[in-house]
Amino acid sequence: MNVELDARALTTGIEALAAISDAEAPAVTRIVFTATDLKARLWLKSRCEEAGLLLRQDAIGNTFARWPGSDPELPAVGTGSHIDAIPNAGRYDGVVGVLGGLEAIRALQSSGFHPRHSIELLLFTSEEPTRFGIGCIGSRMLSGTLSADAASQLRDNDGESLDQVRKKAGFHGNLGAVELPPAYYKAFVELHIEQGPLLERQRTPLGVVTSIAAPASLRVSLEGAGGHAGGVLMPERHDALCAAAELILAVENAALTSGAIDTVATIGICDVFPGVLNSIPSRVRLSVDIRDTDVKRRDAAMEKIEHASEVIRTKREVSIQTELVNADAPANCASKVVEALSASCRKHNLQFIPMVSRAYHDSLFMSRIAPTAMLFIPCRNGYSHRPDEYASPEDIARGTLVLAETLALLSQ
Ligand code: GLV
Ligand code: MN
Ligand code: MN
Repeated sequence: MNVELDARALTTGIEALAAISDAEAPAVTRIVFTATDLKARLWLKSRCEEAGLLLRQDAIGNTFARWPGSDPELPAVGTGSHIDAIPNAGRYDGVVGVLGGLEAIRALQSSGFHPRHSIELLLFTSEEPTRFGIGCIGSRMLSGTLSADAASQLRDNDGESLDQVRKKAGFHGNLGAVELPPAYYKAFVELHIEQGPLLERQRTPLGVVTSIAAPASLRVSLEGAGGHAGGVLMPERHDALCAAAELILAVENAALTSGAIDTVATIGICDVFPGVLNSIPSRVRLSVDIRDTDVKRRDAAMEKIEHASEVIRTKREVSIQTELVNADAPANCASKVVEALSASCRKHNLQFIPMVSRAYHDSLFMSRIAPTAMLFIPCRNGYSHRPDEYASPEDIARGTLVLAETLALLSQ
């Protein structure tokens, strides 16, 4: 089998998807179930049809493009990622795994390879948490981690439920049927940019992911007392933003003092009400994103944050309400998929290192229902979730070649 990639098609595909965006280039914004997301999905589905793949969509919009194997009753080998993009993102996060997966299948087809197990490309719905406040909605539902009931009640910033929004976007059907039957996949493998600097620093073209860190997030509401910026004297204030400022630093401190470099915490949302120059902030809404490779250490950091908010609440006489959005376990990748990836790297004389994924991915949830691993390629300076995210065509082609070999190995 001689697998020849069309590296040019990969590059033009990435460019074409980047042009379907709600942000001015080079930034990419593609929020789930917006007209832009739907346009990108249509574009992708046409590419899958051109490759002769059989398309199916579930009630939440997860899209499956299947190359049937010679024994179609056997569990399939899955690959794929997401094409939704956070506001002001780059063009590679997720997209490399989807278009790389499609190109890997296309290259295997033209090499004359015939899989015994079907190979299936998956486009997951809403890997990014932007719209509904929680990431990996599609893969959480496929794996039974998020129930149909809980999912349909999620609300976006305009107060619309996920159920209403998905139906408006044309995805009907029973959300209860999204969960995959047991042993649907023989294996799942996701190609992704690293989103960190290690591969580049170690001058290594590939990373085989052996575990995925445990993510958690909180929604915090602080309520104090508003009032006139001139009239209310300082000792009499209950400024919600000043309380939030203390809490933000407490979150940073909880990560910094966990005893390991692997604890990371981020406050990415800070909404201030009424948000006016001459009015004391009465309400603040924060998001807390906290992750660790060690779930106990992450939970200990979360307890420290809870304790800090208790202290701030009492000291400043404000109310602080904390809602846990998610606290997921980490994933260990499956040795058989890790070995298939490693063997494929060796076959092409490509150096690789074992890696931990500090970002979360749909693979975190696919690992709950299928033997799963990931392949990382470098991205310049480790930049991701920003417009200057960049992965070279050579690195993308290398990753896609190893993905193709791995899919061939696993589907025999
Ligand atoms: C994925 O986008 C993540 O935030 O890890
Ligand atoms: Mn992302
Ligand atoms: Mn991603």
